[in-house]
Amino acid sequence: MTLSVNDRIQLTPAKTCSPSLAADPWKFDPVPGYGPGSSQADPVPEPAVHPGQLPAAYRQMPEDELHRRILAAKAQLGDELVILGHFYQRDEVVQHADFLGDSFQLAKAALSRPEARSIVFCGVHFMAETADILSRGDQRVILPNLAAGCSMADMADEDSVESAWEEICEVYGADPQNVRPGADGKLPVLPVTYMNSSAALKAFCGRHGGIVCTSSNAEAVLEWAFERAHRVLFFPDQHLGRNTAKAMGVPLEQMPIWNPRRPLGGNTEQQLVEARVLLWHGFCSVHRRFTVAQIDQARAEHPGCRVIVHPECPMPVVDAADAAGSTDAIRKYVAASSPGEVIAIGTEINLVNRLAAEYPDRTIFCLDPVICPCSTMYRIHPGYLAWVLDELVEGRAPNQITVNAEVAEPARVALDRMLAAVPK
Ligand code: 13P
Ligand code: SF4
Repeated sequence: MTLSVNDRIQLTPAKTCSPSLAADPWKFDPVPGYGPGSSQADPVPEPAVHPGQLPAAYRQMPEDELHRRILAAKAQLGDELVILGHFYQRDEVVQHADFLGDSFQLAKAALSRPEARSIVFCGVHFMAETADILSRGDQRVILPNLAAGCSMADMADEDSVESAWEEICEVYGADPQNVRPGADGKLPVLPVTYMNSSAALKAFCGRHGGIVCTSSNAEAVLEWAFERAHRVLFFPDQHLGRNTAKAMGVPLEQMPIWNPRRPLGGNTEQQLVEARVLLWHGFCSVHRRFTVAQIDQARAEHPGCRVIVHPECPMPVVDAADAAGSTDAIRKYVAASSPGEVIAIGTEINLVNRLAAEYPDRTIFCLDPVICPCSTMYRIHPGYLAWVLDELVEGRAPNQITVNAEVAEPARVALDRMLAAVPK
């Protein structure tokens, strides 16, 4: 029998990146409130139930009883309900998802079930916000645990991006509230936000001629941006920005880091003038753990093995790998491999272990020797899922993610540009 990541963590907490993961989410994060990655403009839903306030019955319920309740509630809600799950969710949750995907696929999935009154999003906060922005007004999006945010999304907040924008525009002689194209028809700079950002930052991009990207379409989005602007301010993930722009031929010296704590982001005016991509100083703490040494070791232990990593990994890791791609691209890479092949993967452990279980005739393993799930994705425990579904059956909708119209409208502009810029 294959053990789930949750089972492994419970059995061997010392082998995880943080032994505290063995605790249930309501113990792990006792501070009430939104998790990281919440939009500053997003009102706290009412009734908001925070970690620690999940009804005790659900905290104490055995896993098989939670499973049974989830199935019963799904059967009762029928087509009124759709459960979306990201590939990084734990198996105990994934088995209940109607649709499993990467963040781009899940954004589109939110559009594909207009008959579903409730979209229960088993993912993180920025994904639920995006679903709310793209879904119909009579649909409601529910995030089972409000503390499921994204620490990378939190690295770029609206105020820091606004002040960076003002400084940057001043260097380029542009009005930050109304950047105009020059004589060649191109803007001096345009903002691009990774999907892993608050709705407020997507709205910022919508207002300033910018666009959203995901790891599956970053190159197409940057092409779109370079058709319209000389430069791009890319946030929050420096690694996705650098890996993508480098693959498109942008020299590294034209990709300075923007450190929001330093004047001019830590650059000279000259560097900013020569820049093509300004990379926000953000990163994913899961993908930052992958190293070239791990790849070397995998190749030494498994001569002929292939290595694929997520583009949130640092550039030397992406360069040393055979391929890089979104979570769905990784899934497809494995699906296209042949029995007997060895594939080392640099991404979150739940996805890697699921692929290993799905393809037992291949050797599939994670480059990171330590069990390291995305701790915020991991906060969607089946207890939260069972609870929100039972509440929906009772006619209540807890933890609804509602992006107010002032933010949602410009954010939708930036998301629609992405949807139009990349193949459907
Ligand atoms: P994908 O778009 O590849 O699913 O990535 C989302 C994410 O958060 C990766 O860390
Ligand atoms: Fe955010 Fe990293 Fe988790 Fe993805 S894996 S949701 S980028 S913290």
